[in-house]
Amino acid sequence: MSNDRFTLCLLLYSISQVYVVHSAASNSLSNCNAIAAKFSTTYSNGPAASIISTTGTNVTCASLTGVSCPGSTSSGSCVFQHKLCITCYMSGSTVKIRVQSNGLPLFCPNIPSGVTLSEQNIDFSVNFNPDVSVNSPYITVTTQTAIDSTICNVSNQATPPSASGFTAISSTSNGIAGVSIDGVAILNANSANNVDPFYPSPTTIAAEHVDQCMGHPNPQNIYHYHIGSGCALSASQSTSVQACATVSSCISSISTYSISQFSSYKTLTVIGIAKDGHVIYGPYDSSGNQITSGYDVCNGVFYDSVGNYAYFATQTFPYIFGCYGPGNYPTVYPSCSTNPPTKYTKSIYAGSNINGLSNICYLLIILVSIYIS
Ligand SMILES: *[C@@H]1O[C@H](CO)[C@@H](O)[C@H](O)[C@H]1NC(C)=O
Ligand SMILES: *[C@@H]1O[C@H](CO)[C@@H](O)[C@H](O)[C@H]1NC(C)=O
Repeated sequence: MSNDRFTLCLLLYSISQVYVVHSAASNSLSNCNAIAAKFSTTYSNGPAASIISTTGTNVTCASLTGVSCPGSTSSGSCVFQHKLCITCYMSGSTVKIRVQSNGLPLFCPNIPSGVTLSEQNIDFSVNFNPDVSVNSPYITVTTQTAIDSTICNVSNQATPPSASGFTAISSTSNGIAGVSIDGVAILNANSANNVDPFYPSPTTIAAEHVDQCMGHPNPQNIYHYHIGSGCALSASQSTSVQACATVSSCISSISTYSISQFSSYKTLTVIGIAKDGHVIYGPYDSSGNQITSGYDVCNGVFYDSVGNYAYFATQTFPYIFGCYGPGNYPTVYPSCSTNPPTKYTKSIYAGSNINGLSNICYLLIILVSIYIS
């Protein structure tokens, strides 16, 4: 092999390394604390012995009465407390994050009368932003049957991969998929019918109702999201929250409505943490572009040259995330939604082509080294 070609390979390999996802993610203690600071915490000397017994922030809601008041009623208003504590700490050389929330938001949700909403004990710990690689996905689905049994399964987000070091400190934490920055639970991407809650397929299954803040309580009385909520970021979006069904722009296209709530957040914006320790971002990247490609089957994106992997809120199912990634990039789509992605593609940082090229060069460099020696 000529020196020129060897030099070219070396050059290509060096260039490609800029784009290849390195497996070391930003998971130092200070990285964790920076993410924790985005949450609307109410208790700072964490972890709390019990999040429920801490003093939270009062939220006063004239709209909540009877069983839909998760606090106490005084002069016709419901007063409940939002309680949230996020603690980053070292366990050996691993940075862990402890997430404790009573699940109640900072706004007054719109709860149908007669439906119960109650304070929860959400408490778990997990490795913060664990190192993952595009070349070693946890989820690989290539057939219609495989993608459906994974992405269209209401139980598939119960247990994160063991590499995440997830520990459920309260049993409630087993039933959720993550926690929003406002302490509200993020549940499985699916409804109990194993379909997209908002754009179900088959269409004989009714879409679920949520309020204008994209939340609703489940049978365990847990108020929760399945799709990005701007109310988690801004209280101004959440005064006199109506039922989505009574707001024409919401009911006509809830997926568009959800994205529109982030119009003042057209940059990389933390909106929550998944139970596998990965950060969840809103619908926009750091350049202000809406994420419409670059994500895998779980809704996960390798979004920078460091090797960080996170979930992004999207306009298509599963909206927040549908499995614990990294996942692969199949050419089949979940059949339980009438609003699935049209394509799964690697981001430039997932180094698809350039990575392959660099590997060939790497091999040649090794071969030449052996030849020279
Ligand atoms: C919060 O609400 C409770 C119950 O209504 C009340 O006793 C308490 O004084 C309130 N705290 C603040 C800081 O307003
Ligand atoms: C759904 O996922 C759970 C947990 O991973 C699994 O035990 C179950 O078999 C799955 N159901 C279907 C229908 O694939």
